[in-house]
Amino acid sequence: MADIAELVLQHIDKSDGIDTLQLSEALKEDHQKVVGAVKSLQALRDVINAEQRVAKRLELTDEGKDVLLNGSYEAQIFKAVPKDGIAQDQLMESVPNSNIGFSKAMQAGWITIDKAAEGGQRVLRKVESIKDEVQIILEKIDRQDLSDVTEAQLNEFKRRKLVAEVKVTSYLLSKGPNFTLKVERQENELTPEMITSGTWKNKEFKQYNFDAMGVMPASGHLHPLLKVRSEFRQIFLEMGFSEMATNKFVENSFWNFDTLFQPQQHPARDAHDTFFLSDPAMANKFPMEYLKKVKNVHEKGGYGSQGYRYEWKIEEAKKNILRTHTTANTARTLYALAQKTPFKPGKFFSIDRVFRNESLDATHLAEFHQIEGVVIDFGLTLGDLMGFMNEFFKKLGIQKLRFKPAYNPYTEPSMEVFSYHEGLQKWVEIGNSGVFRPELLLPMGFPEGVTAIAWGLSVERPTMIKYKIDNIRDLIGPKVDLKMLHCQHYARLRFHEPMMSCALST
Ligand code: PHE
Repeated sequence: MADIAELVLQHIDKSDGIDTLQLSEALKEDHQKVVGAVKSLQALRDVINAEQRVAKRLELTDEGKDVLLNGSYEAQIFKAVPKDGIAQDQLMESVPNSNIGFSKAMQAGWITIDKAAEGGQRVLRKVESIKDEVQIILEKIDRQDLSDVTEAQLNEFKRRKLVAEVKVTSYLLSKGPNFTLKVERQENELTPEMITSGTWKNKEFKQYNFDAMGVMPASGHLHPLLKVRSEFRQIFLEMGFSEMATNKFVENSFWNFDTLFQPQQHPARDAHDTFFLSDPAMANKFPMEYLKKVKNVHEKGGYGSQGYRYEWKIEEAKKNILRTHTTANTARTLYALAQKTPFKPGKFFSIDRVFRNESLDATHLAEFHQIEGVVIDFGLTLGDLMGFMNEFFKKLGIQKLRFKPAYNPYTEPSMEVFSYHEGLQKWVEIGNSGVFRPELLLPMGFPEGVTAIAWGLSVERPTMIKYKIDNIRDLIGPKVDLKMLHCQHYARLRFHEPMMSCALST
């Protein structure tokens, strides 16, 4: 069977000027399909001329189609009246739209009422037979044959909502300068075979459609915390740091606390501050040599320290927890470094999630992210730490720093770091830092004279400041506005003005 496009060409060949509506009737094909074939012929450049026309056309409404099928309501009433009449009540129940049909049939003089009949009013036929003009005219309109349909009839039918006017776009078709009866398929692609065989020379190629809407590239969006994380990462990498492994949300108390010279009675090791695991509740693999040294330094000290002077218990160290700080990873990394000889200085960082059993409020969740850095070498001092902090925060666009003495079990001295926040017009705490204690480094096996400076900060605080978010639930969790995530600018911590990645409409 020839395809529609070829049939269209044959019809154009036989006529001078044919409309697609006529064609659709002649071919008994849906008009849309004929138009589709015309479009594909138009793409062949000058094979056909197609002139667009908009015409008004009358079409039957659904109700009109129903009347065409079953007769007008008045005709239905007439047909429902038998020769010897029918009780009016019964008649009215037997056909749809009986009210309209009844009054129309009365007007037309087709039926009459016998008011004096026994047992209530009866309806009787007044004529032998009727001609259902409404149905006849609708049938003509349906064929688009309006030759003897009067204006008044059309208006009445429109008013009765049996017909409606619709706009139809059609094309008047005629031969183009390159008219042909055969449709040469256009090639979509130039293939290697066409090139090697040389057949490309005789092929017609489909035109590019530069107006086609492209497919929206599917893309994910980084969460603001991830954007800030990647900025921090970049800064560490620029400063020559390597990334520590952080793939342990579940840590044991030994690495999270004991190796960091945090005594076993320390309040942070309480269930109020730390999440303990019930299954598996205990870890059982430790480097035993090192564990003994840790036990010893807690109980008796050494390396110039007197220790905490209590009985250190392995049961306490075995307890599994969700790590409370990334300093647990730092302890593991430093221990691994200490096992390598000769000693090599190092700079390490990590950015990952930690967990604390906190009461939740607008700025605190039970899980958050920490950024941590550590530098280890011979003879690093507090001066190095302060210098380093200045350099590190300058890279974030933070110029003014203040240090306040603080306490950490694992650092001495320890300092909280504050920066002046221009927006809030006050000093805000941005991090915690210190010089690792010899009680921590020497049991690991580092040589005398090696010191380490370290610091930690949260990812959430600078993110909330940078993105002007004052409730942490707008940043993480089920209440987060996904559009905000999609459109939020890249953090660009080193610049004051944020860059929007798309317009945030209200
Ligand atoms: N671990 C500390 C905290 O959780 C941060 C810190 C890291 C402090 C390293 C000093 C040295 O707040």
